[in-house]
Amino acid sequence: MTGVTRARTGYEYRPVMGVIFEPFKIKTVEAIPFTTEEQRRMLLREASYNLFLLPSATITFDFLTDSGTSAMSDQQWAAMMRADESYAGSSSYWRFEKVVRELTGYRHIIPTHQGRAAERILFSCALESGQHIPNNNHFDTTRANIEYQGGIGDDLVVTENHDPQSDFPFKGNIDLRRLENYLEENAGNVALGMLTITNNTGGGQPASLANIRGASALYRKHGVPFFLDACRFAENAFMIQQREAGQSDRSVREIAQEVFSLADGCTMSGKKDGIVNMGGFLAVNDADLATDARNLLILTEGFPTYGGQAARDLEAFAVGLDEVLDQRYLEYRMASTKYLKDGLNRIGIPTMQPAGGHAVYIDARAFLPHVPAREFPGQSLAVALYLEGGIRTCEIGSVMFGKPTADGGFDAADLELVRIAIPRRRYTQSHIDYVLENCERIVAKKDLIGGMEMVERPPFLPHFRAKFAPIDSWVAAHGEAAPD
Ligand code: F0G
Repeated sequence: MTGVTRARTGYEYRPVMGVIFEPFKIKTVEAIPFTTEEQRRMLLREASYNLFLLPSATITFDFLTDSGTSAMSDQQWAAMMRADESYAGSSSYWRFEKVVRELTGYRHIIPTHQGRAAERILFSCALESGQHIPNNNHFDTTRANIEYQGGIGDDLVVTENHDPQSDFPFKGNIDLRRLENYLEENAGNVALGMLTITNNTGGGQPASLANIRGASALYRKHGVPFFLDACRFAENAFMIQQREAGQSDRSVREIAQEVFSLADGCTMSGKKDGIVNMGGFLAVNDADLATDARNLLILTEGFPTYGGQAARDLEAFAVGLDEVLDQRYLEYRMASTKYLKDGLNRIGIPTMQPAGGHAVYIDARAFLPHVPAREFPGQSLAVALYLEGGIRTCEIGSVMFGKPTADGGFDAADLELVRIAIPRRRYTQSHIDYVLENCERIVAKKDLIGGMEMVERPPFLPHFRAKFAPIDSWVAAHGEAAPD
């Protein structure tokens, strides 16, 4: 059996086999919920048109996030059985630490319950109020945690990232020229530098090895500690292998190891490329920083050998970190993501190019040009997808990053995207075809889809709890009266 064979004819992976198949067998199944359009209309109204507020039992296909939603393997479940649930000194911790250290090379491995806890602890220890932290693009929890500590998060992603149609292969790169100027201008006031791999906010796009080397050199030259936000390190390493000159003969693990070696530490959410439902870690080389981090960890997460996770979580996480580097798994995953992106493009839905790793990002601004940013075209489209087929996606645009200004105006996000995030090993190709079928119906009525009004805006991370009301034209598209 040849499986999906690698073809390195260009930077974008092209599966050689016509049929993409999952490189695993199904051992346990979970029933999929079905609803009628009538029910979904009512549910949307009850959830104030915020898809985060819908009960999951009302969702047929859940592409809200790839975080913590993946399917674990038999090997992960088996590892959970041998977990040592001791409060201190658990042997599960040592197994976990060994796997993380062999992969990253970092000296101090500090488990946390998820990625944002690692961020909060890092910034509490290493950031003073008024200091800056650059990144290609900060993810929303990263930015919120920086701002919560009084810091300033700056995005220095390359300009190609701002053009969804550009097929530049490394749209997750940080702009090295801007970074150099930035480090000079803010000398003495940069707490640490970051790079998010892959760049989730900017479309799941990778940073190249050359770029990571360049960022590392600049941070080192300016004496600024360098931290990776490594949530999707394996997908980033795979895209380096596939797209970057001179990298095709290296294993994904080797590439990932080099990437980690270029930084002084990382924050990690195991809920992505750890293929677990919960877990994260902070890894650092600096001994003093590790001591401060562990002291804070005990205060809020737990003892340093479990840090907010059950020992069985650590066991599953350790196995997941190995499985995610499997070449065949990564080939299938990227082929499947690209299949969805190509299918959407074929039926006239513009997406961010090229295909990212964990998700396909619909360019809602280009798809619904008649809906202005302040009426949240991404949110309108996400709501329409749920109404049409019970499909849950996530707006990454002005709901997340836009801000009303003091003079009554509106500061829109750079891009208005709808993210179809694909949980690892959870859905099959026919499920992806179902999404495409529903999207085709949306295309037919797209001119009728209108905007949304945000009627309630929480102060932090507004997308999670904001409330919306549809503006007339959207309601008309679905033949119902405006809500009272
Ligand atoms: N950094 C990045 C790049 C992320 O994508 C996330 C989470 C985090 C940090 C925080 O990790 O959730 O374990 O606390 N992203 C999820 C998503 C929520 O849907 O993309 P966490």
